[in-house]
Formats: sequence, C-alpha cells, structure tokens
Amino acid sequence: MKTEIINVTYENLNMELIKKAGLVIRQGGLVAFPTETVYGLGGDGLNPDSSKKIYQAKGRPSDNPLIIHIADFDALAPIVADIPEKALLLARKFWPGPLTMVFERSEIVPVETTGGLNTIAVRMPSDAIALAFIREAGGYVAAPSANRSGRPSPTSSKYVVEDMNGRIDMILDGGEESQIGIESTILDMTTQPPCILRPGYITKAMLEEEIGTVETDQTIFSNRSDLSPKAPGMKYRHYAPKGTMVLLEGKKEAVIEYINNETDKKLEQGFSVGIIGTDETMNAYTAGFIKSVGKRTDERMIARRLYLILREFDDENIQYIYSESFEGDGIGQAIMNRLLKAAGHSVIKLP
Ligand code: TXA
Ligand code: MG
Repeated sequence: MKTEIINVTYENLNMELIKKAGLVIRQGGLVAFPTETVYGLGGDGLNPDSSKKIYQAKGRPSDNPLIIHIADFDALAPIVADIPEKALLLARKFWPGPLTMVFERSEIVPVETTGGLNTIAVRMPSDAIALAFIREAGGYVAAPSANRSGRPSPTSSKYVVEDMNGRIDMILDGGEESQIGIESTILDMTTQPPCILRPGYITKAMLEEEIGTVETDQTIFSNRSDLSPKAPGMKYRHYAPKGTMVLLEGKKEAVIEYINNETDKKLEQGFSVGIIGTDETMNAYTAGFIKSVGKRTDERMIARRLYLILREFDDENIQYIYSESFEGDGIGQAIMNRLLKAAGHSVIKLP
C-alpha cells in the first residue's frame, strides 16, 4: 500500500487537505494524525472493518480496545448509554484536552472498536488539526497511538512514518512535536468512585478538584501477574525501546555512581549504552550516549521528551539503557508509569 504523506500547518489550516483525509476515513481507510498527546492512527470508529484494519496495521491484539475521538460534545450522547453527572463536570473542565473517559457503550458502537467490551473510551483532543480532521471524518475517529505495537508512542511524524509507511493510507504531518508527549489520562466513569486506569497529564489532584474522590487502578505500578489491569492495553509490555532498560532508584550520588560503573562494564564488553539523566546530573555521567530528559522540576518537559529519547536510543541501536527514576503524585506518576513499562518493571533500588 502506498502511504500518502500530507503536510498541514497550524497557522493556516488547509481545509482541502483535511477534507481529503476525512474522506479516506469515511471510505473505510486509515489516516495517522497529530494530537496534543501523541500521534493517533485513525479509522472510522463506527465501522467494524476499519477497527479490524487498525489492529492489523499496528500488529496489535484485537482484545485491546480503541479510544473514539470526538470533536464536539454533542457527539458523545449517541455512542454512550448514559452520561454521569461527574463526566459532565470533567468534560466541561478538561475537554478538549488530554483526558479520556470510559462509559457504558451504546448499540451503535461496534464490539470490534471496544475489543469486545461493553464500555467505550472517549476523548476530545485539543489539537486544531485533529479537531478539524475528526469533523471531516464523520465525527467518530477510533485511534490508538500510531506506533507499531510494543514501540514507544510517536511524538513526531518522523516516527509515524518509520512505523506506518506502507501500512496505512495517509499520514497527516503536523510538522511539530506533540505538545504533551505522553498519552492521555484514562478515567473509568463506570465505577463509583471513578478510577484512573492510566495516569497522564491530567493528574488525580486535578480530577479530584472537580468531582471529589478518584481512585487509581492498583495494577498500574505493580508487576504482579495475578492482578489484571482494567485498561487491557496496560498489560502489554508497551512503550518499549529495543534495548534492555533498567531503572535506578536511590540517592542521586548512588544512582550516578552505579550507572557510571555499569556503563563502563558494558562498553568494555562491546555493547552500546544509553543513559537517561536530567539537567541536574548530565555532567556527572562519564561515558555512553547521555541524554537529559529535562529539569527535574519541570515534569511537563520530561513527559514531552521521554518517548523522543527512547526513539533516539533505537535510532542509535543502543543495547543497554540506564535511567534515573521519578516520583510524585502529579505528572511524575505518569512519567514513572511509562518508564516502568518501558523497562518491563526492571528496577534496581540502591541503598
Ligand atoms: O492520548 C491518547 O490517548 C492517544 C491519542 C492518539 O489520543 N491514544 C492512545 O490510544 O494512547 P492507545 O490505544 O494507544 O491506548 C488506549 C488505552 C489502552 O491501554 C486500552 O486498553 C485502553 O486505553 N482502553 C481503551 N478502551 C477502553 C475501555 N473501554 N475500558 C478500559 N480501557 C480501555
Ligand atoms: Mg498506545
């Protein structure tokens, strides 16, 4: 299949091109498009064949449900069984934006889109290209992140092309890197209290300020195979770089010393080594392919750069990756969740 790559700019939305992309979706094809979180791989969310094609293009297990992207609040009611009061409050506050909410689905949503579940995840992105595209596509765009299954989510079109060229009909290239850089927060609205299934840019505290108590799915940070996560996708080794990745926890000095020692050993054995550090520690590392994700105090920047760095390590064929850890209840939690998954929960705690 030939993939058409179309450049769109934010300053001057070319509606002719966006209409063309929308038509591809309405005719049952697939189009990758930018959002403020990561690039999405879109198909018609109400067309079972489109959803099947998405699973094929990604190489993703078809029991892993897709998020339906809408562009207008009125598009929500037809695809859900009901809209809880709290969801209304959250939509008012955080839509359009990086929050996905899970509802009971209505009859018109095919089970192919929901991976067989009776619930449907819905998000209204804030990205201007995404919104225009969704409207032109008929209003319901099912879209997982536009990476091949198991790879880090793409935050720039370069990596969408790398993963999807020849597998989908079209790529809308927004030209810029994704503003947020990690996937949306997923909140299950079908339980009382609502439950965070995937942490993201919209934090627990931000949600609780609007609707009171919110729980967090306990499987998110654990590696226990007897607990099954409520967001099916969270069980897969996701967001993974090609190299073997290890996270280091402990005092700054101990972490630096450990990483430097291990790096020297691996280099001596002939392996390539990548290090994920921060602006504060960058200069303390002595060898290897050293990358800073940003300032520790600037969690937004760290979230934005994380996948980019993992992809760059792949570009450099890095075989071993050592990363510092992050903490906190805010975006730090989302960052740590993605790092843990990238590392397959391989963590070394230093005294
Ligand atoms: O920011 C994002 O959410 C991006 C952009 C493209 O919008 N999309 C994204 O989609 O990250 P994906 O498919 O890579 O991740 C969706 C996650 C998966 O872990 C999936 O299992 C979960 O959402 N999910 C989808 N529908 C669900 C449902 N009905 N109940 C529980 N989890 C669901
Ligand atoms: Mg994904």
